[in-house]
Amino acid sequence: MKIRHYLAGIGTMCLMACSPSAPQPDVEEALAYCDAQVHRTLTELRDSQGNLDYTLMPRNIADTATVWHCRKATKEEWCAGFWPGILWYDYEATGNDSIRQEAERYTASLEFLSHTPAYDHDLGFLVFCSYGNGYRLTQNPAYRQVILDTADTLATLYNPRVGTLLSWPREVPTFGGHNTIMDNMINLEMLYWAARNGGSEELADIATTHARRTMECHFRPDYTSYHVAVYDTLTGNFVRGCTHQGYRDHTMWARGQAWAIYGFTVVYRETQDPVFLDFVQRVADVYLERLPKDYIPYWDFSAPGIPDAPRDASAAAVVASALLELSGYVPGEKGQGYRQAAEQMLASLGSDAYRCGSSKPAFLLHSVGHWPAGSEIDASIIYADYYYIEALLRLKKLRQAETGR
Ligand code: GLY
Repeated sequence: MKIRHYLAGIGTMCLMACSPSAPQPDVEEALAYCDAQVHRTLTELRDSQGNLDYTLMPRNIADTATVWHCRKATKEEWCAGFWPGILWYDYEATGNDSIRQEAERYTASLEFLSHTPAYDHDLGFLVFCSYGNGYRLTQNPAYRQVILDTADTLATLYNPRVGTLLSWPREVPTFGGHNTIMDNMINLEMLYWAARNGGSEELADIATTHARRTMECHFRPDYTSYHVAVYDTLTGNFVRGCTHQGYRDHTMWARGQAWAIYGFTVVYRETQDPVFLDFVQRVADVYLERLPKDYIPYWDFSAPGIPDAPRDASAAAVVASALLELSGYVPGEKGQGYRQAAEQMLASLGSDAYRCGSSKPAFLLHSVGHWPAGSEIDASIIYADYYYIEALLRLKKLRQAETGR
């Protein structure tokens, strides 16, 4: 794909987002709500003796359910790092030491990943959301070592002939080659971090090569993304783009595009290469231009049944968090447009339409995990909550920096 210097105008997205009536989320109220839901969850997870099983992680609450479905923290459970991450963010928001202690205990259940051969690419989700936030907030040197060791493990999935990490070793026969999924972009952050914090510099090179190859092969000419890119394992050639969790191979799966917006924002932060800044704006703009009025996407932008198709609050939370960062890199009205779009997303997510409120102990309703498999449809899902609280904290810090308070 040819990458040209990006001189796009303000566009529909900004005209809508920059309107004076754009809602301003009440961050303090929203963080207090998240804290209350965290306490509810901890209460619910205790057994009859009042004990917590720190190896059992909340994963989802089905649309018809009111209590968390938990899964064991194993190498196959890609979501096991989000609950410890939420606890770290809640500790950051509240300074509550009892929440920090619970964050430490849940985080410790993932230590085994640093000395287990890579099962798949999800190690970044698992270890950077948990240990990464833990290290950021505590500077615990043991946490640093876990992240460094896990980054080395993740790098074993790199195929230099292709130039990307193999996302799903178990799916090589299904896809007929080396597969890389868009979600894998999120796991690059841990490689960059490791390279800057005592790990091999090669980890950053791997991350950047992965991002470049993904930019070249994983997108259609209109900058919408495939979920899966298949490469020839031996020659490294791109073979085809297809989907796993989206509606059709050629449609824009909302969370896939969200991972791309988030991932390429991180890659620009880490490389300062303007090619990535140009590119991520194109990837963000096509997403923003096609959103429904409340800024929460349908689970796939071509989902059957629109406008009655399920939304995906998780994609909205990921994109809100990413745009808050991206708005700091893009000057002028365009950057302001990203900021206001993010605020609009957070305002919608904080409304009664998307909040669990008293009905369930999660933060958010209405996410879709895997529609083609009939799994987690219109559910509360733990990663939606993780990126929601992350985005709230990012917005709080931006506002504090602006007002000096
Ligand atoms: N495969 C990760 C996701 O559902 O986004």
